[in-house]
Amino acid sequence: MKRLLMKHYFLGLTLILGLFSCKTEKKDSVEDSTVANRDLVVDLGKTGIKIQPTMYGIFFEDINFAADGGLYAELTKNRSFEFTLPKTGWVEPNSDRHSYNAESGILNIVKYAGETNNHNYARVTVNNDEGYVLINEGFRGMGVKEGAQYDFSIDVARHSGDIQKINLQVVDSLDQVLGETSISPDSDSWKTYESSFTVSTSEMKAKVKITFEGTGEIDLDMISLFPQDTWKGRKKGLRKDLVQLLDDLDPGFLRFPGGCIVEGRTLARRYQWKKTVGDVEDREILVNRWNTEFGHRPTPDYYQSFGLGFFEYFQLSEDMGAEPLPILGCGIACQFNTGELVPLDELDPYVQDALDLIEFANGDTNTAWGKVRADMGHPEPFNMKYIGIGNEQWGPAYIERYAIFEKALKEQYPEIIIVSGSGPFPDGDYFEYGWEQLKEMNAEIVDEHYYRPPQWFRDNATRYDSYDRNGPKVFAGEYAAQSVAIASPDNENNWDCALSEAAFMTGLERNAEVVHLTSYAPLMAHADAWQWTPDMIWFNNLESYGTANYQVQKVYATNAGTDLLEISEDGKSLTGQDGLYASAVKDANTGELILKIANTESHPQALKLTTHNGNLGETGTMLTLQSNNLQAVNSFESPDLISPKESTFEASAEVIEVTVEPYSMNVLKIKIQ
Ligand code: AHR
Repeated sequence: MKRLLMKHYFLGLTLILGLFSCKTEKKDSVEDSTVANRDLVVDLGKTGIKIQPTMYGIFFEDINFAADGGLYAELTKNRSFEFTLPKTGWVEPNSDRHSYNAESGILNIVKYAGETNNHNYARVTVNNDEGYVLINEGFRGMGVKEGAQYDFSIDVARHSGDIQKINLQVVDSLDQVLGETSISPDSDSWKTYESSFTVSTSEMKAKVKITFEGTGEIDLDMISLFPQDTWKGRKKGLRKDLVQLLDDLDPGFLRFPGGCIVEGRTLARRYQWKKTVGDVEDREILVNRWNTEFGHRPTPDYYQSFGLGFFEYFQLSEDMGAEPLPILGCGIACQFNTGELVPLDELDPYVQDALDLIEFANGDTNTAWGKVRADMGHPEPFNMKYIGIGNEQWGPAYIERYAIFEKALKEQYPEIIIVSGSGPFPDGDYFEYGWEQLKEMNAEIVDEHYYRPPQWFRDNATRYDSYDRNGPKVFAGEYAAQSVAIASPDNENNWDCALSEAAFMTGLERNAEVVHLTSYAPLMAHADAWQWTPDMIWFNNLESYGTANYQVQKVYATNAGTDLLEISEDGKSLTGQDGLYASAVKDANTGELILKIANTESHPQALKLTTHNGNLGETGTMLTLQSNNLQAVNSFESPDLISPKESTFEASAEVIEVTVEPYSMNVLKIKIQ
């Protein structure tokens, strides 16, 4: 079965989709009859366990066009002609080399001399200045907005002849011009030209059209187009609406850059952070591992430009007040693919990468890597506290390598907290073995992943109740309820999944003593270019929305509290008895009691909440996420279909009486007197 499951993840899906079919077992209709008299008790006096500020965070991976074509706001695809087929994304409508029709002109790829990270540039021969056209199709088109300003930049070297102007137009599908500008190349050496312009009309699938005035040969590279209105107005920065959705989560940490992308399908294609910092044009492009991973969603034009690289991840973490949590490869390529291993006596460069990363993030500006950070505009340290070693590795090969990393890291940086992994599954041999070994090694935090049916989440609200309070802490690093099967293309971000996660999360919170970090995965998906579903945030070239799952994460993260309290019924935690799940925290900063209550039943439930050891204010607020339809989803058309509705409730000194709706997730907040 395990072998089948592995195959399911990354090779053919068909057989396994059947085996793992996990369609909801819950009813879709609601009942009117309220189940009354649920007597719950909240003890305001019993504190001592802290909710870690890292409790609710973000998992970011460049999957589903989350970076290039997504968060990274560059609109030009393959701007530097570095893809395996270097003309990918570029079209020459008037020049067909197959029919020997290059009368108007032609583009050829030329290699730079010597050792470079940017290997190619384009040499354009213009024979007829009215006829030659070069088009970039963008990432499934380019999203441009009415009245918004755009920055065009291009590296140019004149080669021969007399080309006086390069014109850039943003056009729609009917070739109507939505905005335009031009630059006048004046040098035979490489020089960067920049120009800005305004777009007149919004368009989701615009293209860039480049034409030339004059004839001759001209060399082009780094042909780039960015909106000016980026996150924090940073030039060539990140897409504002997407970062806003992340920032609204008030995340405790940002895990990056993944996920399996860390490991690579082969070692040669692993993620190497050093190649993602420094000047953008010198960051060596790499094929994205999700490119052709899934036969059912091939995306051959998916590459990593690393315009969103490690510096930008650290900066983004800082912007959001989130702890940066980089995950590095440990000398094992993805075990679902090749499982290629670096011999133990050749692991040094990999370990050095980890040590150097700490220096890059935290080192003084007179250290080699601290200087790289400073030169990129951030002399202050990023104060990184966590580092992850390995993603979904398993077996002795991982433990042996992890031990080598741990020794070297702790010798030099004892204060850095190391995150280790327990493999891809939440149970079974790999998981048991990993945990056993890591426990023996006194590992600090162990990452667990679970992509399971909604029912599993409802059944597992007690998962951490039995975890050793003195053992390693838990990072629930990747989880999401799968409505059909793991990574099935038919999975939906429906309310059944989100509500089941909400119920499960009460269990994460109740166990804050052992669970220190949690994150839903994957984070983002382009509606026209995804590989994996479900995902927390969906976007197209102009719009974005948070799914029901996003809304659940948001109500938890923005109401995390600081201290765990006990909530019970008949002396027992609420872990699904008659569909009721609950957790309670205090927020020492606001002086509030915060209750999270999920009702997964099809009928309302009337609750009488009595507090012990403390009194309450007179009025509280209640946020409710609810739908009578478990199949309901948010969408571009109805982005807020499932989103929190706020109401108020009255309380006497020690008693709150509220009714929670069927299929609802509720957050109640009230001052403690
Ligand atoms: O979240 C998608 C993938 O799922 C991650 O890359 C990997 O860690 C897991 O298998």
